[in-house]
Amino acid sequence: MKLVVVLSALLLLSLVAVSSAEEFDFFYLVQQWPGSFCDTKKGCCFPDTGKPATDFGIHGLWPNYAKCKTRGELDGALEMVTKRKKKCWPENCNSERLKLWEIKDLVTELDANWPTLACKGGKSIEFWTHEWEKHGTCSNLDQHGYFATALGFKARHNLTGILADAGIVPSDSETYFLSSIRDAIKQGTGFTANLECNRGVAGETQLFQVYQCIDRAGENLIDCPLPMQGNCKDRVQLPAF
Ligand SMILES: *[C@@H]1O[C@H](CO)[C@@H](O)[C@H](O)[C@H]1NC(C)=O
Repeated sequence: MKLVVVLSALLLLSLVAVSSAEEFDFFYLVQQWPGSFCDTKKGCCFPDTGKPATDFGIHGLWPNYAKCKTRGELDGALEMVTKRKKKCWPENCNSERLKLWEIKDLVTELDANWPTLACKGGKSIEFWTHEWEKHGTCSNLDQHGYFATALGFKARHNLTGILADAGIVPSDSETYFLSSIRDAIKQGTGFTANLECNRGVAGETQLFQVYQCIDRAGENLIDCPLPMQGNCKDRVQLPAF
């Protein structure tokens, strides 16, 4: 009799766990240009693995809503804890810690493609941990799946190569039309992406991050469903790194 009670309690718990699958609409795969990260007042530091390649590096894989939600539209206790009026993405969905042994086989690839540039001790694992806790816990992917998915999409489309093929190469003097960057990415990947810029030390506008959009299953690129006010101008730089 007791066993039956315990078993039904377990069944109930697992149903609750299943129904807590995160609802979101698509992923952003965000890649950052290291030359633009470093050419800021704040600057950058290289990770303990050395200077990263002259290539976009992954910032994160972020579940996102297609339409920002107000508190009334959100369900789930975790969501209600937040004080923000509008939420455009879920974050910190559970307290699962990143376990290095879960992603052991990916570490070499992660060091090369997802390096930290923050001046915080040079350990990229701290960057990955932050991304996992804030975004990965909402992704409906397990730890290995989360990091492998981001690496897989980055490997599929070499953004640095796609831009180079369109004549857009790193330079501290050249400026490029934002529209030609947009067109090159559309042509090279088949899908529209969103672009974000930042300001260099001298105030120049630089391409900082590329946001590619992926369906909520984490399987296919899609056209980005939302426009982005990304602080860009008609002409931008892609600073050397
Ligand atoms: C991506 O393209 C750049 C520029 O063409 C090239 O130097 C780099 O080796 C490529 N990266 C990979 C991983 O193929």
